[in-house]
Amino acid sequence: MFQYVLKNVNPMTIPFKKLVDVEWAGISEQVLFYVIRNTPILQNDIFWNLVEWTDVVDNSPSLQKFITDYKLDVLNSSVIYIDHQEAAFNQKIHVDIDRAKIILFPLLNCNNTRTVFYDVAEEDLEVEWQNNNEELKYFGVKKGHHREIGSFTLDCPVAMDTGVPHAVHVSPEAVFPRLSFAMRFNNSIDHLFS
Ligand SMILES: [Fe+2]
Repeated sequence: MFQYVLKNVNPMTIPFKKLVDVEWAGISEQVLFYVIRNTPILQNDIFWNLVEWTDVVDNSPSLQKFITDYKLDVLNSSVIYIDHQEAAFNQKIHVDIDRAKIILFPLLNCNNTRTVFYDVAEEDLEVEWQNNNEELKYFGVKKGHHREIGSFTLDCPVAMDTGVPHAVHVSPEAVFPRLSFAMRFNNSIDHLFS
């Protein structure tokens, strides 16, 4: 059994940075085309979908160029699917299991949604499990008022620290499904946050 340690949440950490210089429209278009043509994600209605990185990048020359230009070494890639039912509850405040720094690209219907970060005390984090304690899902956050420390709308690529408590909020005007594309890396992307 692994031991999971709740590390300090540092409210001074910069939780995200918009990568405004990236020419992203072609990347999103090519990745979305790949998802529609080669995966069942739009039919399956599952929140978290790992997608084979080599397949994705083989189908997106623009993404390959971005990875090369930014000297990124991709660990894995995934597509996050939010439908209208999920959105009705809004996503719970949480910390991702691996606390990875990731890069997100908008794929579909990401307007009218907001990723919000919160200042949460360490003692308000709790380990949450699923499937009869078999799998650690995420670090949840106890109910209560948690102060917002920042937010973004995914209207361009964003580097994001999933170790800072966060949740996706959806406005009544949002259109579904909302799809985004996330990449995790073997090398550090800390420099993108400065
Ligand atoms: Fe998350």
